Amino acid sequence: MCGIVGYIGNSDATPALLSGLARLEYRGYDSAGISILSGGKIATTKRAGKLGVLVEALKKKPLPAGKVGIGHTRWATHGSPVDRNAHPHIDPEEKVAIIHNGIIENYQVLKEELERLGHYFSSDTDSEVVAHLLGIEYGKSADLTDAMERVCQRLHGNFSLVAIAIDSPGVLIGARRNSPLVVGLGQGENFLASDVSAFISFTKRALEIGQNQVVTLTADSCSISDFNGVTQSPREFQVTWDASAAEKNGFPHFMAKEIMEQPKAVADCLLGRMDENGHLTLNEVRLSDDEIRDIDKVIIIGCGSAYHAGMIAKYGIEHWSRLPVEVELASEFRYRDPIITRNTLVIAISQSGETMDTLMALRHAKDQRAKVISICNTYGASIPRESDGVIYTQAGPEIAVASTKAFLTQIVAAYLVGLYIAEIRGIKFIDEVRDILEELGELPEKIERYLETSERLKDLALEFKSAQSILFLGRHVGFPVALEGALKLKELAYMHAVGFAAGELKHGPIALIEEGTPVLVIMPNLNSPLHDKMVSNVQEIEARGARAIIITAENDTSITSPRAIRIPDAPTLFQPLLAVLPLQLFAYESAVVRGYDVDQPRNLAKSVTVE
Ligand code: M6R
Repeated sequence: MCGIVGYIGNSDATPALLSGLARLEYRGYDSAGISILSGGKIATTKRAGKLGVLVEALKKKPLPAGKVGIGHTRWATHGSPVDRNAHPHIDPEEKVAIIHNGIIENYQVLKEELERLGHYFSSDTDSEVVAHLLGIEYGKSADLTDAMERVCQRLHGNFSLVAIAIDSPGVLIGARRNSPLVVGLGQGENFLASDVSAFISFTKRALEIGQNQVVTLTADSCSISDFNGVTQSPREFQVTWDASAAEKNGFPHFMAKEIMEQPKAVADCLLGRMDENGHLTLNEVRLSDDEIRDIDKVIIIGCGSAYHAGMIAKYGIEHWSRLPVEVELASEFRYRDPIITRNTLVIAISQSGETMDTLMALRHAKDQRAKVISICNTYGASIPRESDGVIYTQAGPEIAVASTKAFLTQIVAAYLVGLYIAEIRGIKFIDEVRDILEELGELPEKIERYLETSERLKDLALEFKSAQSILFLGRHVGFPVALEGALKLKELAYMHAVGFAAGELKHGPIALIEEGTPVLVIMPNLNSPLHDKMVSNVQEIEARGARAIIITAENDTSITSPRAIRIPDAPTLFQPLLAVLPLQLFAYESAVVRGYDVDQPRNLAKSVTVE
């Protein structure tokens, strides 16, 4: 939540900051602002609303040129989205400007202390206290790095901060604890940002900044210290995708592009997972074979779509490895005193790798000595860095707030973990694992085949445009798919939508059915024992007036409904990767016909870095 970017170099900072903010807008979009250091002063423009509002304001009244600056796009936590709460925030003497992502938990105490010293606050944010404190500390020593270290020692909570100061025109300073911040190393220019997408069109060289560290950048140097001033050695990495991956490339929305990228994303997720002897290799898992053999329970944690991916993965991991798997919402996990031992494997699933609920749950698991591996799409993010091992999903950047290709690849990656465990524990022979991998390898073509013929969803979205409520039914692996379909519709089209396990219908939810209620049904495979039970469920709801739209395999001739949506046939465990596609498209088209912002739905942000 909140995107932050800083620039220092030999060019005018404003274009670089605006281009960075455009790429970070997915992180928050209720206000935006930039500050530039120019002519010994800090010049700032900030506006409530999306980035476009700021861009228009800057066209009418450009900021003076300057070679160092900071920019912010906000997802409000403390204080409503109005101009005065937008970042950057400036200290009362207008010597420093800061931007912040995260929450300063002790801001009230600090604010009262500052008010007693006569400070007046111009915003309702927690972040403004940082500007005031930095102004005071900087006034004492005129060394921005020292000042930032001292300020950070006083802050509780989560933060990534970037700051500039009028008497240090050649310095850009940043700090982080529990919130993301990376350095981009350019030629005669350097960057600080929430993620690499902000500077990818300038450089692919990046540095990870660790927990509780301060980074000091000039146009051609970078040094890192901890909050006590002790020098730290950062890890450099190369960004593996290029700027075009973070563009819409002719699609009307990032979500449309990302849906269509799913065949490639799944194929890429499977890339490089087999060694020359045909063994499944997950090099980044970093657990010894003995440690894997000792595992006696798996717990999967995640939020939103990542949680649904975990629910689906449970079926595969249990089936292949014969280990019990629990799936838990990360936000609930550590509050129920879960039973965790050294032999518990916790799998944390997160596209962004920065979701605070998941990070905190992961830390709880580690404190209890569990082994933790993460499934993540973002290189170098906090969750993979704090895990014992990581499987990167290799899906490429996902910009739209709605999870699509991340969701599919999370299922695939979690399945790979299940197969890996099964092979090492001797539950599955190598050739059995290879056969399953071959079937997985057929999915990109099947996904592509469905997506090429998916036009009909637009008509359905139009037909149900004004529905009061839409239900989703599934069984077995189809149940989490139903939950995912309902989540997508809620977050994108703002429609009331609920997913149910179809077997539960008769225990209550069937009372919701009235004349015309749309119900999307994920039909189990023809050879599943649940197929006929679901057919009965459909009859039960249709008898009560429901309009059932049945997502079913193309070879299932028993379904003759004119409302059937046909997907390629696949083994039961892989069916979710196909069945979810029409649900993604339905939510997408519903948002479009209802006139909503598909990529940036209201009240949401892509990366939720607060608990
Ligand atoms: O980055 P993460 O995978 O940890 O994000 C988890 C959820 O916030 C995310 O999946 C969210 O539910 C999506 N917007 C759903 O489309």
